[in-house]
This record gives sequence, structure tokens and C-alpha cells, in this order.
Amino acid sequence: MSAIDEIKQRLDIVDVVSDYVTLQKSGRNFKALCPFHTEKTPSFFVFPERQSWHCFGSCGMGGDVFSFVMKKEGIDFSETLRLLAERAGVTLVSKQKERVEDKEAERLYQVNEAAAQYYHHLLLDARAAEVARNHLRRRGISEQVIESFQLGFSPDSWDALRQHLLSRGYKEDELVVAGLVIEKEGGGVRDLFRNRLMIPIRNEQGRVAGFGARALDDATPKYLNSPQTAVFDKSGILYGIDRAKGAIREQGLAIIVEGYMDVLAAHQYGMANVVASMGTSLTQKQVAIIKRLTKNLALALDADAAGDEATLRGLEVARQAFSEPRQVGAMPTWLGGTSKLHGNLRVILLPRGKDPDEVIRESPENWRRLIEESLSLMDYFFEAVTSKLDLSKESEKLAAAEQLLPYISEIEDEVEQELYLKRLARLVGVEERTLAGKAARLRPTQRERTKRVVSLSPVQALGNPLEEYCLSLLLQHPAELRDKSGELSPEYFEGTENRELFLAWLDSPDVEILRQRLDVSLYEHLDSLVARALPPASERELETALADCTRRLGEQRLRRLKALEEMLISEAESEGDKNLIKEQVETLLQKALEPSSQLKELFEKGKRERKGALR
Ligand code: UTP
Ligand code: MN
Repeated sequence: MSAIDEIKQRLDIVDVVSDYVTLQKSGRNFKALCPFHTEKTPSFFVFPERQSWHCFGSCGMGGDVFSFVMKKEGIDFSETLRLLAERAGVTLVSKQKERVEDKEAERLYQVNEAAAQYYHHLLLDARAAEVARNHLRRRGISEQVIESFQLGFSPDSWDALRQHLLSRGYKEDELVVAGLVIEKEGGGVRDLFRNRLMIPIRNEQGRVAGFGARALDDATPKYLNSPQTAVFDKSGILYGIDRAKGAIREQGLAIIVEGYMDVLAAHQYGMANVVASMGTSLTQKQVAIIKRLTKNLALALDADAAGDEATLRGLEVARQAFSEPRQVGAMPTWLGGTSKLHGNLRVILLPRGKDPDEVIRESPENWRRLIEESLSLMDYFFEAVTSKLDLSKESEKLAAAEQLLPYISEIEDEVEQELYLKRLARLVGVEERTLAGKAARLRPTQRERTKRVVSLSPVQALGNPLEEYCLSLLLQHPAELRDKSGELSPEYFEGTENRELFLAWLDSPDVEILRQRLDVSLYEHLDSLVARALPPASERELETALADCTRRLGEQRLRRLKALEEMLISEAESEGDKNLIKEQVETLLQKALEPSSQLKELFEKGKRERKGALR
């Protein structure tokens, strides 16, 4: 989590604003005389559920806790960050420290990349690598794959790599820090990897973060991996992601397998949307990588793993990450907006005792069929739970119901939920009504849900895909788009980090300068947007894409304002208050619409439709 998200999670906007303004409770919200302009009746509102504020009076300003403090104190983003971090008890990394860390990381990548090259050349040319070449040949791994994944061979030597890298100007302690050599008991160092097939593990940016190394004889373990380093955390990387991310985004599906060899086979046979969790059960960090690319994820699991605790836990991680709603509360649908965006998680069941590598090499067709026949997560849970139980026994029927009901109770779609309740009812011979009652008691109450959502500060924590796409366009094509961004305004960006980046982009000619001007806390976000793969596009297409984004962001902002308005109106105590709010919001909306006639049309249309619907 970024420092900004952490601060938002720990602070309540109501507390912060109360330091500057006397707030009055108004339904679920708070109101006050606007601190940014002079007025007699309060039109400044703070919304605890969205952790936002808005003035519906003549100044029309709004935003989150950051923008409030910036405006009120008249300080810039960095200063605000420091102020709020202190208040929230969040430690910020200093720019100095970050620079040093960046440098160290860069050096680690370089030494790993030098090692990868060395191993790769040995595999291609060295006589001693015959055993590795045979292994690859026997397994049918193509030369193209050997090349593109830069597979290699580590010789059966205690210091061949070390000698090579020292001659290249690397220092011994750098090799130790990178985990390529290890300290021996009693002093001295030795190469870690010996007589193994070397598999460089690259991160999303394609940098070599570490290695997996397969034994070529009966050495144990079968795979020796790089130790954890500043750039390598096995549980936070997916093997093959650098070569898979384009395909994942294009196909809108990521397939997660377990092993290195499974990835190599899939890519060799043209299925490039496959990555490996490298033997561990899926982690939150790994799921987060995928979530940025697609909301559809399929896990390939051994048939005999069904019901295995670890598997179910891994699935639980993925399920939670994939089913989080993106927005708090329901967005009004007057502009046709859907309120929630859910991920789709499926399980590919492999034939007993086979891994994807074997299935694919035997028959790519079979693999494709298995993907098509993948189970929805709920079907998989049914399978996993019931396959372990003997449902002719009453006690085991009860166990099945107890294990499955919690999952069923969390299904949001009512029809879908009913279907699964029916199925469970049939399975355990209990009336559906009884099960439904039990499920209802398990369901989190609205209050718990709101609480959870607010504490996550979801709009920021989960990102806003449209805002981020728009920023990627701007950051990656400043030359083409600089002149076309006139209609975009900072108010269009709801995410704090996005808004700050946009503001910085406005007055930086290129990304390097922007980076220098930026607060370090925003580097990571900046880097991910700059690195994001966009489809190649002509200047015309870029302009159209930006125009689309601008229009849709404008719509999003209108929807947000309308949602707030609707909430305020529904909670206003008197007719007079209602009318006042209506009037204020209409004026404000008109103002927001001024720069764009297109938006205006949309807005008028929405209004007509709403009126029509009311009749
Ligand atoms: P597998 O044992 O299924 O390996 O472990 P594999 O990929 O099918 O390899 P081959 O076909 O025998 O050559 C799956 C994954 O678990 C991790 C590796 O990432 C491996 O690809 N693993 C396994 C380890 O990290 N260490 C081990 O000792 C074993
Ligand atoms: Mn295998």
C-alpha cells in the first residue's frame, strides 16, 4: 500500500476538516459554511462514506482530505503529505534514501543480467553444457524458447561465475548481495548454482530479478531459486509476466500455472497469456499484478489438489482480491453506469498426475479444451468440498453445508445465489428455505460492508482504471497529446495520486523533469503508468483515445456529483432544504458543463430520461 493510501486509511476526513471548520451533522453527512468563499447558508458538505468534501455553493470546489488541506493551508502536495503523514503516524521514505535504494537495485539488476548472459552463452556453446542441451532437446523445448527466455547453464564449478563477473568489474560483495555467490562456512565464497539449467526470472519491466535453477542430475532440491534480495521476492513475482502481459491484456485472460516448464510449453505453443506462481500458492501481490492487466483469471490446478487446504487458501486470496467492488455504494444509473465491476475467477482442472507442460506437449488441443471447460470458482468449491466427503452419511452432509454456505452467502447476484442454494439443498437433502435462512445470517450486514469498504478507501486503493489509462496516454505521448488536453481538468481525477500526477504533467515538458519535480511517494505510481503497455497507435488514434477518455472522465465526475446530490436531497429535512440543494447543484453542474458542449448534451439527455422515468 502506498503511503498516501495508508494515510487515507488511518485518517478520517471528518476529523481533519473539523480542525478548520465547525461541522454540523446533516443526515449521514456534515455541513458547514464554506471555508473557501463567503456565504450565509451552509453549502459545504463532508461525506464520510466517500471520504470526500464538496461545496455546492458558488466556489464549487471539492476533493479529498489531501486537496482540502492543500487549499486550506495554502501548501503544496509534498508539504501536505508530510503534515498528514505525521498526523496519521505514517513514516515516509526520504528522497535521499529512495535514490540510494534505486541505485542499489539498478546494480543488482545489472549483475543478474550479466550472469544471465554468461549462463546463456555457456548453454549455447560450452561443451560441458551438453547435458543441459540434451535435457532441453528431450523435453522438446525449442531453440526459439531457449533464446527468448534466455535459458542458460551453470557449470559444475565453485567459482566460474564469480571469476567471470569479477573480470567484468563487479565486486564480490555485490555478488553476495545478489545471491549469486554465497559465503562458505569458515570463510571465502562459492557460486550458488552449479550444474543446473538456469532460468532467469524477470519482473514486469523485463529486468532479471533472480533465477530458478533446475537440477540436471539427482541433486536436491530439484529447483534451487535465488534467495530473497532487494529486487527478488519469489512470492511477489510471476514467472513469465514480462512476456505474457501484452497477451494477457489483449485476450483479457491470465492463466496461472505452477511451474517454469509449464510457462515455457505454453509460450512455445502460442499461448502467451500464461504465467507461473513458481510452486507457491497464489499470493496477494501476485494477484495484484494480474489485476492491473485483466479481471479474468484462470488457475490451473492438479486434479488431486482439489480440496487441499493450501489450494483453497490461495483461491481465497484470489477470490477476495477479485471480487472487491471498485466503488463505494451504488452509483446512480442515470448515465447507464454499472455500480460494480467484478472479476471472474476460474479453475482449470488438470488430468490426474499431469502438469500443463505434459498436457500441452501431448496435445495443445486438449489444453484448449481444458481451458474452455474450466470451472467457475463456486463450482470448484462444490467439487473440492464434496469430493472429500461421503454424502450418504448425515454427518458429512452437514459438513458439506457448513463448508459451502459461507461461500454461497457471499454471492452478490441473487439469481446465482439461489441456483447454488438449490444445488446444495439437493445435495444434502435439506430444504432450500432452511439453507437460505442460514446463508442470510452469514451475510455481512450492510454496516459491516460499508465499514470495510471505507477503511479500504477503495477508490484510491484499487485504482481508477480510466484515470490511469488516461494518464498513461499523456505520460507516454506528451508530444502528440500536449495540445489536445485542454478540456481535461484536475477535478476529473478522483484518485489523489492521479490528480497530483496530472497536475505535475501539466507543467513538465517530459517524464524525466516530471519525476524530478514529483514527490517520491508518487514514483511507484508514475513508473507503473509509464511502463504500462499501450497498443501501438497513430497520432489520430491517440487523439481519439484521449478525447474519449476526457469525455468519460467528465461523465464520471458528473455521476459523482449527481450521486452526492441525490444523497443530500434524500436526507434533506425540509422541502426548503431540498430545493436549495437542487438549485445549488444545478448551478454547479451548469458550471462544470461549460467547457464541454458534448457533456452538456449528455447531461440534458440524462435529465430528460430521468424525468421520463419518473412519470
Ligand atoms: P514441479 O515439481 O511441478 O516442477 O514444481 P516442474 O515445473 O513441473 O518441473 P519439471 O517438469 O519437473 O522439470 C512446480 C514449480 O514449483 C517450484 C518451481 O517453480 C517449479 O517450476 N519448485 C519446485 C521450487 O521452487 N523448488 C522445488 O524444489 C520444486
Ligand atoms: Mn513438469
